[in-house]
Amino acid sequence: MSEDLVLFRDDRGRPGLLGLHCSHRLTSLYYGRVEDGGIRCPFHGWLYDVAGHCLEQPAEPEGSTFRERIRHPSYPCEELGGLIFAYLGPPVQRPLLPRYEFLVREDGTRKADFYPINSNYLQNLEGALDTVHFPYLHMDNWSEAKHKLATMSKPTVAFEEADYGIWQTTIYPIGSRSSRGPLLTSFFMPAGFYRVQEARWVGFTHHYQSWYVPQDDEHTLRFQVGFAPFDAEGRGYVWPEDDEFPYPGPQNDYFRDYEHVDTISGIPVNAPGTAIKGFLCQDSMVNESQGPLVNRALEHLGATDTVLMAMRKMMLDAIGEVAQHHDPKHIIRDTVQNENVFVREVGAAEAGLTRATTAGSQRR
Ligand code: FES
Ligand SMILES: [Fe+2]
Repeated sequence: MSEDLVLFRDDRGRPGLLGLHCSHRLTSLYYGRVEDGGIRCPFHGWLYDVAGHCLEQPAEPEGSTFRERIRHPSYPCEELGGLIFAYLGPPVQRPLLPRYEFLVREDGTRKADFYPINSNYLQNLEGALDTVHFPYLHMDNWSEAKHKLATMSKPTVAFEEADYGIWQTTIYPIGSRSSRGPLLTSFFMPAGFYRVQEARWVGFTHHYQSWYVPQDDEHTLRFQVGFAPFDAEGRGYVWPEDDEFPYPGPQNDYFRDYEHVDTISGIPVNAPGTAIKGFLCQDSMVNESQGPLVNRALEHLGATDTVLMAMRKMMLDAIGEVAQHHDPKHIIRDTVQNENVFVREVGAAEAGLTRATTAGSQRR
């Protein structure tokens, strides 16, 4: 949101999200020291707690009340499912943090991670919801597969509005996905994406929930939580450790290698023996190369892009609601409603894995 912030844990373990620059003379609190109930600026030792109160100003005269008049920017934080969520809106309108099923379920294992993207959050979110791209961008053995496309059915996308956003089912005609059933995905307001993936080769269903967080208009952090329910024997899926690898970009040509790789992009889907994450590189390449902030006036949307139109309309409606001082879609204020967000949808999603054509209509 174009604000420079520092996130820290105080000596009681509470997360605090504060304005990056010290209220005194603007030194970065990134270089601060965590101690004595807060974070201490290295320049003159001012100490701030997680709520932005200034607790100490060591150089000010004895008995000074100056520190009580300092209001350092701070945002409330809550931890859930391995992520720290912050609320950056007006305090009086603060809603509940949705207790998404994959963040709170205890009958499985979970893993959280994030990575940076050099373009606007919304075009990357649209790239996720644009599931039709999967068998093209992410298709291996392209030079053979493309000859089969003409004889196959077209990908079909069914979607409907849900109380949190959009529920979507995609059925693919070609490639490895078709043997795994439909792809079940959701857009949830305002900047989230969810997909369920049956990872038969490891014997677990994986649920992924992602947030495309705008750092500014042209930079995004994608946070993701993966959740795998225990299998029938009660065993937990062991999430692989992430290998360090350089983030894809023009500086490394997104790891394109047409000599050895048979995809449209030349980026490997899988790159055994390396830490390269093919899907991530492919997605970043297509959504960054649209431009730092895509010019939608120049698009030509086709029949399979209707879900994007529905999503954009939903966002515009939400902006209209906020302008009228109403809650936009997917604001939860009721603790009972918030006990478990998504349960019904996921039940249908898991059933939907074996009911390809009815998953959308069964859900609600
Ligand atoms: S600049 Fe931070 S204490 Fe002076
Ligand atoms: Fe993708």
